[in-house]
Parts: sequence; structure tokens; C-alpha cells
Amino acid sequence: MTEQSAPFDVRLTAIRYAAQDTNLYEFRRLDGAPMPPIAPGAHIDIHLPNGMMRQYSLTTAEGDPNAYVVGIKKDRASRGGSKFIHDQLKVGTVLQLGGPRNNFPLDEKASHTVLLAGGIGITPIWCMAQRLQKLGASWEMHYSCRERPEVAFIDELSKLPNVKLHIDAESNGKFLDIPGIVAAAPAGAHFYCCGPIPMLNAYEEATKSLPEGHMHIEYFTAKEAAALDGGYKVRLERSGQEFTVPPGKTLLHVLRDAGVDVSYSCEEGVCGSCETVVISGTPDHRDNILTEAERKASKTMMICCSGSKSDLLVLDL
Ligand code: FES
Repeated sequence: MTEQSAPFDVRLTAIRYAAQDTNLYEFRRLDGAPMPPIAPGAHIDIHLPNGMMRQYSLTTAEGDPNAYVVGIKKDRASRGGSKFIHDQLKVGTVLQLGGPRNNFPLDEKASHTVLLAGGIGITPIWCMAQRLQKLGASWEMHYSCRERPEVAFIDELSKLPNVKLHIDAESNGKFLDIPGIVAAAPAGAHFYCCGPIPMLNAYEEATKSLPEGHMHIEYFTAKEAAALDGGYKVRLERSGQEFTVPPGKTLLHVLRDAGVDVSYSCEEGVCGSCETVVISGTPDHRDNILTEAERKASKTMMICCSGSKSDLLVLDL
């Protein structure tokens, strides 16, 4: 995970059109200092003036060290995040950023890398492509959009022969052939995918027989429902406090209601900011971050969405 800094003040210094319903937003620190360094796959928290906090992937790790750029698509079902940003944020607005964090790191030593992006999932994938191109690595990208106006970074991508575009509307409605792409890749390749849930499901299915550690995935939204069964106790080892988690509440809600100082952001199991060390007990993992091996080891858990299979969880808090 990328080193995380305390939230810091920034100014929105530019808004640029990237594709239909998608803009690029550039931020710079008010104090003029460089941004915390990032690696491809990293995302930041944007603390919005309406009290919301949202996570967005950075589009480049190779550009101006004094600026962060994120690509944001206006979601028609927006609950106030992307809609607020598109409709209300103006160049010059001051707000706070948190992070960066990286739950989707790039293995730069892979013999070959296959990048798959769907829609706005292009943002971390494009960041990775720029890095691989700079390294002179062996890589390919498959970028799928419903219609051509939705394609972002088209000028840059069209100069790269190893980028293949798939436009659903121009392919007789056929979706990107993910099993075919996986089957055609050289042995030992690493795969990365970010896109809508149906694409991620198809990707998980197509890559399930790959060697462990070769399949990498980034979710923007929760895949599983939060654990709300309750009926277990949680003990905080450092403070000695103990709480009962009732049905209908997450562990995070119980701790927050009790005034325990815990960090969190997305509350959907996708950002990693609430990751907490487990001392004993068996978590019921519901996040999209831990790998299968990490879930089995249960050294940590995301307390915003995961619960407990044991009667007692002891956490390093
Ligand atoms: Fe984002 Fe828990 S708050 S994973």
C-alpha cells in the first residue's frame, strides 16, 4: 500500500474535457509543495464541500510532480459525488485531498502485462500503461467502451500500437472477448482489469486458473453486501474497550457511535482506509481488497463492511 499522508489543502487548478460525461480534474497544493509521490494504480480521497468523500484513481504517475490529475465520469445514478463535482466544482475551488493509497499496484518486473479497461476504468489502467511504456516493458491494452464518444485519452492511445479499442456499438453488440485475450497472452503474463461489475465478473472467471498473484483487479463499488448480522463482540486490545455489534450495524458504525477514532473513507470495502489488524477471531470478509490468501490469513480486515464468524473479534485498536 502507498504511504499515506494526512489530508492536505489543494486548489482545483484545471478542468479539461476527456470524453463524453468525463472530465480531467487537476489539483495543486495551496502551500506550493510537491504532491506525495504515487505509483500507478493509486487513488486519492476527495473531500467535497458538500461533506461527501469520494475516491478517484490518478491518471498519471509520470507528469508534473506538483499536480494530481483524476478522471471523473458523471454517473447518471450519482448519489452526489460525481454529479456534485461536474455541476458545482469550478477552477479555483479549495478543498482537501486524502491519501494517496494503492490497492492496485503494478508489478513492473512482469515479463508481459495485459491491461484491460472498461469505461471510466481506464483511469488507473492508463496510468499503468504510461509507466510500462516509459520502462520499455512488454505490454498490451484492451479498452472497451459502449460508444466511441466515451473513449478517453484517444489522442495518446491512438499513437500506441499495442492498444486495442473495443467499441460495443460497432461490434454487433459483442462485448470484449476477455477469455480470448487471456488465452492468447504469453505464459507468465500479469493481468490487470478495472471496469464495470459485469466486466470484472467475466475477468475473474476468465483468469481463475492463472497462477496466484498474476491476476489483479480494481473495484470502484462494493461487490458483496456488508456484514450486518451482528451478534458478536469486539474487543479493542489497546484501549481495553469491548462492544457488542447488534444486527443491522457494521463494526465501523458501532465504533464510531462509541466515539472510537478510526479512519475510514468509502464505507464500501473498496478503498482500504479502514484496514485494521486482527489479533484473534475469524472475520467475515466482505471487502474487494484482500486477496483470497489474505482473507484466509485474516491478519487484517476492513471494518467498514466485514463482520465476524466468531463470537469475539480482538482488534489492534
Ligand atoms: Fe474504504 Fe473500509 S472505508 S475499505
